[in-house]
Amino acid sequence: MTIQSLLHTHLQTAMINAGADKDTDPVIKQSGKPQFGDYQANGVMSVAKKLGTNPREFAQKVLDELENSQALDGIAEKLEIAGPGFINIFLDNDFLAKSAHTARTSDRLGITSDHTETVVIDYSSPNVAKEMHVGHLRSTIIGDSSVRVLEFLGDTVIRANHVGDWGTQFGMLIAYLEKMQNENASDMELSDLEAFYRDAKATYDSDTDFAEKARGYVVKLQSGDEYCLAMWQKLVAITMSQNQASYERLNVTLTDKDIMGESLYNPMLPDIVKTLKDKGVAVEDDGATVVYLPEFKNKEGEPLGIIIQKKDGGFLYTTTDIAAASYRYHTLHADRAIVYSDTRQAQHMAQAWAIARLGGFAPDTFKLEHHNFGMMLGKDGKPFKTRTGGTVKLADLLDEAVARATVLIDSKNPDVTADERTALIDAVAIGAVKYADLSKHRTTDYVFDWDSMLNFEGNTAPYMQYAYTRVRSIFAKAGVNPDTLTGEIVITDNKERALAVKLLQFEEALRQVAKDGTPHVLCGYLYELAGIFSSFYEACPILSADDDTKNSRLQLADLTAKTLKTGLDLLGIKTVEKM
Ligand code: ARG
Repeated sequence: MTIQSLLHTHLQTAMINAGADKDTDPVIKQSGKPQFGDYQANGVMSVAKKLGTNPREFAQKVLDELENSQALDGIAEKLEIAGPGFINIFLDNDFLAKSAHTARTSDRLGITSDHTETVVIDYSSPNVAKEMHVGHLRSTIIGDSSVRVLEFLGDTVIRANHVGDWGTQFGMLIAYLEKMQNENASDMELSDLEAFYRDAKATYDSDTDFAEKARGYVVKLQSGDEYCLAMWQKLVAITMSQNQASYERLNVTLTDKDIMGESLYNPMLPDIVKTLKDKGVAVEDDGATVVYLPEFKNKEGEPLGIIIQKKDGGFLYTTTDIAAASYRYHTLHADRAIVYSDTRQAQHMAQAWAIARLGGFAPDTFKLEHHNFGMMLGKDGKPFKTRTGGTVKLADLLDEAVARATVLIDSKNPDVTADERTALIDAVAIGAVKYADLSKHRTTDYVFDWDSMLNFEGNTAPYMQYAYTRVRSIFAKAGVNPDTLTGEIVITDNKERALAVKLLQFEEALRQVAKDGTPHVLCGYLYELAGIFSSFYEACPILSADDDTKNSRLQLADLTAKTLKTGLDLLGIKTVEKM
């Protein structure tokens, strides 16, 4: 349990006993400044207002309740009323010491895996026969860290790689694949998917026979023609094996088993449309099937029509997402589904889900969340592109990261073996790219800048990875294996105290990330922890201290190392032991 929820429970009880409603919220927050204690209860004012009493008087009643019940004995050392009626809570040093000891000696740092939901996380979701672009990179990185955090807390996570593997473009792609196979005796080269797609399109636009054939193949594919299906599968397989290589390089947990592409939902679409028509949610409009939602208006203020089936019978991206919502609820039995895709798809997701709810495919209890994100920008503040204005290929981006990290690491000339050096470069290169993304609030655009992400100072992967090795090096210097440490943690110095408080707030950061899908909260937490550890280490000598103090401080250091490592791991960032 977090300190926050422990305090919530006790303060809530005291407030109820002092006259507040059963559902009253004490609004427990971490304090911003040490003079305001470690936590604050800010909920008194609004309750007092409701009850028509003076907030400071009500706060005093709450303190009296707590004093009588002794609920916070051994937890808080003192409580103070501040300002208009805030309650400042100062935690007890022994409580902090014991809690830190428990965290260090329990599995999973004492964090219970008490989440019980089945959560579908729709992320990465690249398109077949296209190169993964930077938008997919963001979705992949942020989505994967969300997967890790929710799994850590106990949820059953179903990874759904909503690959764009269906649509009319496949007629053209199959026809072009066939053409290439006919022209090349050897198996076709599809290493450059971007070029393949571009050339297919150019041929389609210039060669009428080819275009005719392509259109025929769309119809055949949709009616399940074996040849077309086999060609289609080949395109999917080639694309996904290239993507799989990227996932592995990126230390992302997606595998082939997680592919749940658009094609999966295709057979369900006619029924979806029929149900929506039967229920009167969708109407025929000029041959197409359209849903008008009052909450989505066009420029003239009239309800916007959302097409779910075109005049020619074809279905749309929205229809697929309605079916996906239904499938995730009815077939996968999910309690919650989260889609990681960019902000420009916000309206699309909102529309698909509003229709899914109206059609009865997704009850209100089934949580549908779009965790949108902003764009990745170049240093010029414009969408991230190559120097010549093309899309940046993910593989090239990662190669560059490795090249730059190699220069950086070699300039530091660390005392490592050749194998360790390779692992270190990989951890720093990939870590830097991922951490740069994860550490920014996902909804804002961010500037992709090699120099700042590969900096050893600031909220970066190299800084965090280095901070971890520094803590670990203390044990090497002391010649102590942390697993053999026993005895108590004793907190006397203010810096020890500050470190213990911060360490015990790890779970609060995780719970927030789990709720909002905002890994930057975890990055910010780890960054602050590393800073607080540095101040502790400067002020509180470890190796030269007397035996008991040394033993206690080594335990705090060990908990710090474990917390940093677990936290970075939940972000999908690798750590090394030496750098
Ligand atoms: N394939 C889509 C794209 O490249 C992203 C899919 C997001 N997920 C979803 N259920 N719509 O933009």
